[in-house]
Amino acid sequence: MTDRIETITTPAAMAARAAELARRGVRVGFVPTMGALHDGHLELVRTARAKNDVALVSIFVNPLQFGPNEDFTRYPRDLDGDLAKLATVGCDAVFTTDAASMYPRGFATYVVNDALTDRFEGAVRPGHFRGVLTVVAKLFHLVRPTVAYFGQKDAQQALLIRRMVADLDFPLQVSVQPTVREPDGLARSSRNVFLSQEGRTRGLALSRGLKAAAARYAAGERSAAALIATARGELEATAGVGVDYVALVHADTLEDVRQADARALMWVAARVDGVRLLDNALLSAPTEAAW
Ligand code: PAF
Repeated sequence: MTDRIETITTPAAMAARAAELARRGVRVGFVPTMGALHDGHLELVRTARAKNDVALVSIFVNPLQFGPNEDFTRYPRDLDGDLAKLATVGCDAVFTTDAASMYPRGFATYVVNDALTDRFEGAVRPGHFRGVLTVVAKLFHLVRPTVAYFGQKDAQQALLIRRMVADLDFPLQVSVQPTVREPDGLARSSRNVFLSQEGRTRGLALSRGLKAAAARYAAGERSAAALIATARGELEATAGVGVDYVALVHADTLEDVRQADARALMWVAARVDGVRLLDNALLSAPTEAAW
């Protein structure tokens, strides 16, 4: 357990620290976050700490990945609470800075993926992944991690970051870890704090839908239409759940599949209490990470 966390507050200081760690050959496990940390993040930090010499977390609510009508201003922020939680899981250092330092006047260069962003979250949130990839590229340059850890709940994000690392030759590994769930199955998310007690119960329809589809897969069903109908049925049977999409895709390409195989990823998004909830699972191994 670490009781004192080094806090780094400027990109220049972060770059200097990263250069020094690199010179000493220190393995850096990196967990990029927007704060409002929950058990899902903490599990990533535990893994980063266990598998590397130091665990470094960034906390930065990135304005670039929020659309004009999205929840940037009301996104939960609690730096002191986050630092207290990080102290319990062995985090060594936190990089937290402000938007003006990350995007100074004149900033005009972005990272864009043209292939994987026109579906799912990319379609619902235009520009979102341009903001994510741009900030993650900057963070990778500043932190110089050995391994960067992401959760599978944001599967499209994880896949896009993998792609960026391969396409742009970032010298690091991307590790995607299984979604951490509440005991009743709800995927952990910073946005869960916006759910009312009733909304929280309604939100369980997402994991129930995935579980029902995985059970049908285990029983031998392979038709994508039937598996999607099973998950959608759970969502639509729950009052107050607005389904955005239910899809069955190949985990590596996000292309729709007609017949499920071991790499078939079921993917659901819905709105509850005005909060967008996401969840996904490999039907063949619903509790394991897909990558
Ligand atoms: O997943 C998140 O919290 C964010 O999208 C990330 C990766 C930290 C980039 O801002």
